[in-house]
Amino acid sequence: APAGIPPRTVVLVGLMGAGKSCVGRRMAARLGWPFVDADDEIVKAAGLCVADIFSLYGETAFRDCERKVMARLLDGPPHVLAAGGGAFMDDRTRALIRARATSVWLRADLEILVARTAGRTHRPLLNTGDPRETLRALMERRYPVYALADLTVTTGPDSADHTANQVLAAVA
Ligand code: S3P
Repeated sequence: APAGIPPRTVVLVGLMGAGKSCVGRRMAARLGWPFVDADDEIVKAAGLCVADIFSLYGETAFRDCERKVMARLLDGPPHVLAAGGGAFMDDRTRALIRARATSVWLRADLEILVARTAGRTHRPLLNTGDPRETLRALMERRYPVYALADLTVTTGPDSADHTANQVLAAVA
């Protein structure tokens, strides 16, 4: 970045399975910046896994916790931050992200999302019903909002390294 312009945290948004964590980790390695996974920070703060926060306290409590954790992270030094898939859907969390970071939507097709989330049980939203139908419904509801991110990078079946390079080129 030009002298005098501070580097800005990059927040990756998008659906479960879009590759936010894998791509973010590689971007951070390239930049020499820290990588932070918001879900991991929420789990640390709550002392409970995501599925337990949902089942014991409900999704609203999870979103409140997510917002607080994101606010703390966004106040800190520049880093690459993988947001949980629902973070950008919360009006207040989205406002924080937009004010303090460059947001990038990792956009992926349904088939990619289905394949990449298959067999994982740590995502409460995919643990009931047909995951394909759930993801399809989430795509419909969320894609218009994800589109409000500063930048959009469409990911195919390419490697996370390839996508990380695309995102780095987009934010440069
Ligand atoms: C959620 C996505 C998850 C996690 C929680 C809710 C969502 O994060 O925050 O299960 O609402 O899409 P990942 O997108 O990292 O799986």
